[in-house]
Amino acid sequence: MRYERLGEVPLKRHVQVRRDGAGSELLTEEVLGYEGFSGNETILYHLHSPCRLDAVGEFTPITRDEWVPDAHVHRLADANPVARGGDPVGGRQLLMFNGDIEVSICKPTTELDGFYRNGEGDEVIYVHRGSGVLRTMFGRVPFREKDYVVIPRGTTHTWELPDDAEQFWVCFHTPGEIETPNRYRNRYGQLLEHSPFSQRDFHGPLELETCDDAGTYELTVRVRDGHQRYVLDRHPFDVVGWDGYVFPYTFNADDFEPRAGRYHLPPPTHQTFQGPNFVICTFAPRMLDWDPEAVPLPYHHSNIQSEEVMFYAEGDYAARKGVDIGCLTLHPSGLPHGPQPGTVEKALGAKATSELAVMWDTFRPLRLTNLWQANDRPEYALSWNPDKSPAPA
Ligand SMILES: [Fe+2]
Repeated sequence: MRYERLGEVPLKRHVQVRRDGAGSELLTEEVLGYEGFSGNETILYHLHSPCRLDAVGEFTPITRDEWVPDAHVHRLADANPVARGGDPVGGRQLLMFNGDIEVSICKPTTELDGFYRNGEGDEVIYVHRGSGVLRTMFGRVPFREKDYVVIPRGTTHTWELPDDAEQFWVCFHTPGEIETPNRYRNRYGQLLEHSPFSQRDFHGPLELETCDDAGTYELTVRVRDGHQRYVLDRHPFDVVGWDGYVFPYTFNADDFEPRAGRYHLPPPTHQTFQGPNFVICTFAPRMLDWDPEAVPLPYHHSNIQSEEVMFYAEGDYAARKGVDIGCLTLHPSGLPHGPQPGTVEKALGAKATSELAVMWDTFRPLRLTNLWQANDRPEYALSWNPDKSPAPA
C-alpha cells in the first residue's frame, strides 16, 4: 500500500503525546505491523490502552461442514438461492477453503452487534450487491457495489448498512497478506505505469471516528481458528490519529483498466491481488482481441497445478453455457477446460465483452462445503459434450 495519515500525529515517533496539552493524560501509542517489525506498519494514538478489557467472554472454535464429492469434475454452483440473513460476520456461509484461503457468501440483513477484529488473517469482501460504511478504528470507509473492501488483520471494525440495500458479498479470508501483485510495483512499492490501476484508485478511510465513551462494548476477535469474545468498557474507536502503510481500503472493479491484445491474453492480465498460493483477478468489460483471425475466447487450458474459481458478476459471459449472474464455476486441477462447444464459433468477430467476473486461482486443492453441495449443478460436468448438452442460444 501507500503512506496515509489521518488525524493528529506527533512530529516524532515514540514521544510524549497528550491530547489536550500539559496536564492531560498521555495518549497510548500502538504500532500495528506485519512480519514482526520488518513489514508494513501503522502507528495509532489511542485515548486509552487497546489492551484494556472489562471481561473475557467465551471462545468458540470454527467448524466447517466439508462436502467431499464422490467425483472429481468441473462444477457449477448458483449462489443466488443462498439464504439472506445474519450480520456481516456471523452471516458468512463458507463455500470453500484450504490452508491459504476461505471463501464465503454473505447476504447480511442486520448490522453487527458490537465489533469484530480478525486476529489471524486479512480479509477481502467483494460487494456484488449492496453498499454501506465499514466503520473502523482507522476511520470510516464507505463502500459500494463492485468494491473490493480490503481489511487488514488487526483492524477493529463494525458495519453500517443502509436499510434499503440488499447485500450480496463474496468474502475472502487468508492467513497471509492481501497485496497488489509484485510485478505491478517498482522497487519502492509504487504502482508502475503498466499496472491496471494506480494509487488513486485505492480509497482509504475518509474520516476518523474518535469516541471517548464509556459503556459496554462487545468485541469478537478471530484467533486460533475460533472466535474469542471480550467485553470492553471503553469504545474501541478511541484513535485520535494514525499514520503508516496499513489501513483498510476499497478498490472498485470498474477502476480496473483491462488489457487486450491482437490475440488472446491469459488470465494473469486480469490479476488484481496476490496472496499466499492464490491470486484474485478481475475480468472487466473490455475490447476483445482485434486480429481478424483471432479467437476472442480463452483457449483450452489444463490447470495441472491450480484450481480456478470464477464468480460471474455482470454481463454476458460468452464462453459459458447456462451460467447466470451470481453463479460460480470451479475448474479443479488435473482437468483441461475451455469454452463449451459452439461458443467459440459464435464469438468470432466479436469486438467487445460486457462480462465482469471475479476469479480466484489457488495453487493448492480447494475443499468444498455443504453450501456448495446444496447449490451444485452436476449437469455442468457434461456440458462440453454436445450429445449431452444443448447448443448455446
Ligand atoms: Fe480457465
